[in-house]
Formats: sequence, structure tokens, C-alpha cells
Amino acid sequence: MEPVLAEELTAMGATNVAPARRAVSFEGDKKMLYRANLELRTGLRILKPIKQFTARNEQQLYDGIYAIDWSQYMDLKSTFAIDGVTSSQFFNHSKYVALKSKDALVDQFREREGKRPNVNPVTPDLRINVFIYEHTVHVALDSSGDSLHKRNHGRETLEAPINEVLAAGMIKLAGWNCDRPFLDPMCGSATIPIEAAMLAYNIPSQIHRTDFGFMNWPDFDSELWETVRKEALDRVREFDHPIVGFDSDFQAVRIAERNVVQAGLENKVEIKRQKFERISEPSPAGIIVMNPPYDERLAMDDIYDFYGMIGDQFKKQFGGHQAWIISSNMDAIKSIGLRASKKMTLFNGPLECKFLKFELYAGSKKQKYKNKES
Ligand SMILES: C[S@@+](CC[C@H](N)C(=O)[O-])C[C@H]1O[C@@H](n2cnc3c(N)ncnc32)[C@H](O)[C@@H]1O
Repeated sequence: MEPVLAEELTAMGATNVAPARRAVSFEGDKKMLYRANLELRTGLRILKPIKQFTARNEQQLYDGIYAIDWSQYMDLKSTFAIDGVTSSQFFNHSKYVALKSKDALVDQFREREGKRPNVNPVTPDLRINVFIYEHTVHVALDSSGDSLHKRNHGRETLEAPINEVLAAGMIKLAGWNCDRPFLDPMCGSATIPIEAAMLAYNIPSQIHRTDFGFMNWPDFDSELWETVRKEALDRVREFDHPIVGFDSDFQAVRIAERNVVQAGLENKVEIKRQKFERISEPSPAGIIVMNPPYDERLAMDDIYDFYGMIGDQFKKQFGGHQAWIISSNMDAIKSIGLRASKKMTLFNGPLECKFLKFELYAGSKKQKYKNKES
């Protein structure tokens, strides 16, 4: 996902955008920081680096954290939390890194003011990130607060929901230019169609969120934040193609419909109860992005027949469409019976998945499938 995130940042005007492993670094002013939090679709947290130092043991870690003047960022009344992340031969346990860093911060306040601020792991005023790569410690303030995959439109989920950031990333990786209809025929709680609509109408991903980490920082500029929000809303645009989610399950359809309303997308996303195998004469050729059951978290009677049915429907009903499927079940994917023209590896939580593209040719190209099957 790093290249997709880098592309989003570049389009937003960030400078020195550089993809790294599980992260993208960039430069920008305070306005860019606010915009990134409000509008990015494929980022989880936006961290503002405040210090980098070398540490090969816990004392050096403690000293480095202690040397930061924490009164610049918080006071005794502020609650805080520290997320530790390690990829280092010197520090094995991220929880221990967080604990040691907390001790240093607390000791600084206690020695200066005789009292210490409290930890609040869930909703702290200040969230701090301490990342150690080998012997380099990167200390950053978490400007997002809660993870940005939460879009805060009160979504209800079903058994195997996909994460919003993954859904948005898949849509972008699929190369949908918002120039054709969009269909998710197994939409579950509608995460994918909702992200598609947010993208198509250029609605900021965090338009429903009122609480970001940077709002508790002493330098929070509420006027600038209002300007950023207003400018983003001014960029919302019209979109003329259907965005549709189907699901065979009654409960899923009810939840999907509610989620669409919660996200403020009624009239923009259509949800229907429909079995994929029953679809005939679908809407004009568009893009399909789907997340079928994998038989990992959702049990299926015969997963091979099920994926075979998906392939048959693609061939019979979806000529001219472009279909993308995410699944961790590679054996089942083979039962689709079509050759993927692109393959990528993505992680859906802990599950390693393939994200595959199938070009479904219309008209004379149907012959191609027949040849393959015979
Ligand atoms: C992995 S879930 C999709 C989760 C969804 N992406 C979300 O974020 O909530 C797979 C969905 O496929 C639906 N499904 C299973 N068989 C189906 C069929 N034959 N036709 C349509 N939908 C089906 C299930 O009801 C389930 O909601």
C-alpha cells in the first residue's frame, strides 16, 4: 500500500514523499498535517517526528526520552499514552520500550513539578510514538489520535469485515478512475462501496470525525482547521455512475443500508439483496471489486464450487467488466477458471491474501473462455 499512500500525499502537495517499509515519510506545513488527517484514505496514523537519538540499552533509551522537554507538548493535567514499536536486536519488546519511555517522561515531570501526569491508554490527550529501528530511536507525536481506518460514521460490522484503509487501497490499486460504474456483489457491511463513493464524490475520509490528536496540541490552530475543512468540502464533486453493493444475506443488507445512511451516502450508494449466482444482465460495464468468503472466518459448504460459480457468472454475465477479487484461499481462486492479468499480495489483518484482476472480455472474446474450458 505504500506507493498508493505516497501517491495520495503527492497529489495533496506534500514534499519529499518517500515510501518506506509500512510507512511513507513526507514534509509539509501545519496545513498539510491537517489535510493529511482529514483526507488521506490509505494512511493509519500521521506521526510528527520530534527527536531522533541513538540507544543500545535501556538506560540510553531512558536518557534520550528524559532529555526531551515534555512541557512543550503537555502539562500535568494532560493524560498521555506511549506506543512502542521495535525492529531492533537491542530492544525485543515493544511494551517494555513503551514502559521505559513512560518512566522517563513521568520522572521528568515529578522532578520538575513534584507531581506526575496520568496515563490514559484509550483516549489520551497526547499519544506518543517511540519507534526503534536497530539502535536509532524515533520519537514522534501522533497527530491522528485514534487510527484513521476508523471513519467515525458509526459503522456496524458483520462477521468478516474488511478494514476501511484496505478497502480504499484496493479501489485505488484497481485503478478505478471514477469513470465507470462500481459494483461489489458480496458487499457485507458495505465497506467497499462506501469507500468507493467517498472517493468518487471526493468526500474527505474523516469528514465525520471531530476529534484528532493534533487538536490537543498547544499549537492547535482552530481557524486553520476550519479553513482546511471548508476547502476540502468545496472540493466535493458530482459523480454520474452507479455505485452498487449486493449481498445474499438479509442481515448483511440491513447493516449495509444502515451504514450507507450513517456515512451520509444515501442516494449515492445502492444496496440490494441479491445472490451473485442469480444476477443476469447487470448494469453497463464497470469495475467489480469484491471480497468473497475465504472459508477462513466464514465457513462455506463447498468453497471450490462457490468460486467456480463466481467464474461462471463472470463469463456469462459480466463481459466488458473488469473484476478484482481479494482472497486468502489460493486453491479456491483456481476454481474461478480464468487467468488473472494482475496479482498483488495484500494483508487482510493477519491473513495473507492475493488481490487479482480478471479482464472479462465482451462479445467475440467469449470464445477465449470456451477455448480455455474445453
Ligand atoms: C467476506 S464477507 C464481505 C465483507 C465486506 N467486505 C465487509 O467489509 O463487510 C463476504 C460476503 O459475501 C456474502 N455472500 C456469500 N455468498 C454470497 C452469494 N452467493 N451472493 C452474494 N453474496 C454472498 C456474505 O453474506 C458476506 O457478507
